[in-house]
Amino acid sequence: MISIRNIVKKYRSGSEEIAALDGISAEIRAGEFTVILGPSGSGKSTMLNMLGGMDRPTSGEILVSAEDISKFSEKKLTDYRRKNVGFVFQFYNLVENLTAYENVGIAADLNGNADKAADALIDVGLEKRMKSFPNQLSGGEMQRVAIARAVAKSPKLLLCDEPTGALDVATGDMIFGLLKKYSQNNDTAVVVVTHNPEVAKIADHVIRLRDGKIVADESRCKQDSEAKAV
Ligand SMILES: Nc1ncnc2c1ncn2[C@@H]1O[C@H](COP(=O)(O)OP(=O)(O)OP(=O)(O)O)[C@@H](O)[C@H]1O
Ligand SMILES: [Mg+2]
Repeated sequence: MISIRNIVKKYRSGSEEIAALDGISAEIRAGEFTVILGPSGSGKSTMLNMLGGMDRPTSGEILVSAEDISKFSEKKLTDYRRKNVGFVFQFYNLVENLTAYENVGIAADLNGNADKAADALIDVGLEKRMKSFPNQLSGGEMQRVAIARAVAKSPKLLLCDEPTGALDVATGDMIFGLLKKYSQNNDTAVVVVTHNPEVAKIADHVIRLRDGKIVADESRCKQDSEAKAV
């Protein structure tokens, strides 16, 4: 679904140049739960931002349906993000003075499509918390609102940067389970950056980064992973 080819991303700080990504190539597929692992500073967030059209590579290609989004104009890139990409962050980024329902409906730019906001919240098990404000919700519930907001517009690509970084282990596992199920049920490409190597066990695809390079790229055939899960 998305092919990145030989992506290099350099940042300049003073006279020094850092290659946050140093020639990486990978395939991100619909219906798969892809996990990006690697130490701090290895380029995980940078890679996610490239996939989501939030940043452009210094060189290389990002092919989405055979179009290279790295060559898109600013306006086309904004359009790509709006139509195709959902983002979930570590600290939820909910609007404090809006209810769960309003956060999903308004922030996801659904233009008053009330049913979609409600459906998305029901999907993440929050049908009883629609009228709650963020400060009345637990961390896991806030992250589920953030996921509902990201998926309400049915993105083809759901990108999550350390979505469980602020949660306890059990709640984190629940969120990972939810994201995996979402990728399967909606034929969506879900890409998760995490520090938790345990998540590799439930992933369809694991990409390991180190110093801006891919050091391992493991795909599991779906039947295998399903057989293991039983
Ligand atoms: N906007 C920027 N300007 C300069 N350097 C940057 C910028 N963004 C990232 N970097 C550098 O690029 C490298 C990769 O950063 P990145 O944020 O992708 O790492 P990460 O794997 O997500 O790390 P973490 O696990 O700590 O979030 C780091 O050395 C970082 O300092
Ligand atoms: Mg990061």
